[in-house]
Amino acid sequence: MTVDDRERWSTRVGLVLAMAGNAVGLGNFLRFPVQATQNGGGTFMIPYFISFLLLGIPLMWIEWGIGRLGGAHGHSSLPGMFDVLTDRKTRWAKYLGVLGLFIPLVIFIYYTFIVSWMLALSFFSLTGDYFGLGEVEAMRGYLGSYQNVFDGSHTAATPTILFFLITLLFVVWVVGRGISGGIERLALIGMPVLFVFALVLVVRVLTLPAAAGSPAEGLNFIWSPHWGALADARVWLAAAGQMFFTLSVGVGSVHCYASYLRRDDDITLTGLSTAATNEFVEVVLGGTIAIPAAVVFFGVAGATAIANGGSYDLGIVAMSIVFQGLPGSEVLGRLAAFLWFFLLFVAGITSSVALASPTIAFLQREMGFTRKKAVGVLAGLSLPLGLFHVVFYRRGVLGDWDYWAGTFGLVIFATIEIVLFAWVFGIDRGWTELHRGADLRIPRFYRVVIQWITPLFLLTLLVWWGITQALPTLLMQNLADPSQAPFLWLSRLLLASVLVACLVGIRWAWVRRQSQTTGD
Ligand code: PHE
Repeated sequence: MTVDDRERWSTRVGLVLAMAGNAVGLGNFLRFPVQATQNGGGTFMIPYFISFLLLGIPLMWIEWGIGRLGGAHGHSSLPGMFDVLTDRKTRWAKYLGVLGLFIPLVIFIYYTFIVSWMLALSFFSLTGDYFGLGEVEAMRGYLGSYQNVFDGSHTAATPTILFFLITLLFVVWVVGRGISGGIERLALIGMPVLFVFALVLVVRVLTLPAAAGSPAEGLNFIWSPHWGALADARVWLAAAGQMFFTLSVGVGSVHCYASYLRRDDDITLTGLSTAATNEFVEVVLGGTIAIPAAVVFFGVAGATAIANGGSYDLGIVAMSIVFQGLPGSEVLGRLAAFLWFFLLFVAGITSSVALASPTIAFLQREMGFTRKKAVGVLAGLSLPLGLFHVVFYRRGVLGDWDYWAGTFGLVIFATIEIVLFAWVFGIDRGWTELHRGADLRIPRFYRVVIQWITPLFLLTLLVWWGITQALPTLLMQNLADPSQAPFLWLSRLLLASVLVACLVGIRWAWVRRQSQTTGD
């Protein structure tokens, strides 16, 4: 197989929108407002911006660089890319790349399930299904009965399963159509829709008449920095965690998309622009919808209390109450609710597609599967594992996967990749690589950041996080509901099996490669 039969992005706009679609997701509109609110609003924003400068931006550049380099050697997934970074001289580097298969695949499975809720909620907004449930507890109950099927209190699991199947099928269909024919096209349609919907909602929220609070109070809440809480380690961990998740770094999906670039395509300016686009969507659009809206209806203290209730309480519970109480007719409220949830669906689906692509790329390029077969394997894996989440959501298995793959895993992966890039591949070659065909010269200061500051920042996070959170989580100390324990062990057994399957896949692919080269 020659290097140049690869697929490519067909336009630069398409590439930028696809990369933006990769990054912009539920993280921007659901996770960010909750994290910011739980961690004191303005207080959170300081470590958040520092994380953007010292973690987000350098990792984004590195991942574009590793991806484009790997692509030039015929690889679109991490095992091969790490192999290239170590000049194919080591046996172990490709196995470290397993993280770049395992993490996106695992996130893909539960993330797509969450995305399917958004589709369901858009539908139920139009039909007005939950209109009339104007209290926080009532709305929590509504959402809970949709999420927690098979718990006795809920009679119909059908919608939950149905919307999950529709969403999964849709993602599989898009990735099945390939890079430019599927993913790029989805981004070209989806991203403009997302921007328009978000702008309409921003305007609506900012013009809300003051009630328990005003829109301006909501904005003040996130935009007035409080320096005092900076000494609080938890705020730093939350901010860094949000940065990883929202930019999609430390996963493998950015590398995969970047591998479809040409050798001399710019990455410095384009990479920075997509990171900046994501931040704009997150802090300006994401920050100006859910938080001020909740503050108007519940006041700052009320909104904080709701956010503390759980990850989806601000974006789903509080927002659906807001839409029920909007001035004007109920039809307008339903339409606004539809705009919100469908916006979340679109944001989520473009990220789901990105999360699916490393697996597809690995199966096709390294294992030699046809695209059809690769897509079949993806569907065959994610359907049963996704249904596992549908059935056992109430046992906390989704949160457990999100912790290991979607939070802690990203930091481990990012630490490994930056060490390989800056120290094994070497910062000199790395710097030259990043600047190949570059439209922007990166300030030299970032050489030091990439070589020293980011790796040290990551190592500190890793140790700190490992001791204060990962270990207690692993040992299931402080489990809110002890009856969850067996289910969490089951969920970890599944995680371990996925990891082993990915490792076996890598081994298989390299044995195959070797027999091909000796056979030639
Ligand atoms: N960045 C996406 C979001 O904000 C999630 C995601 C993570 C997508 C990792 C791809 C890879 O929702």
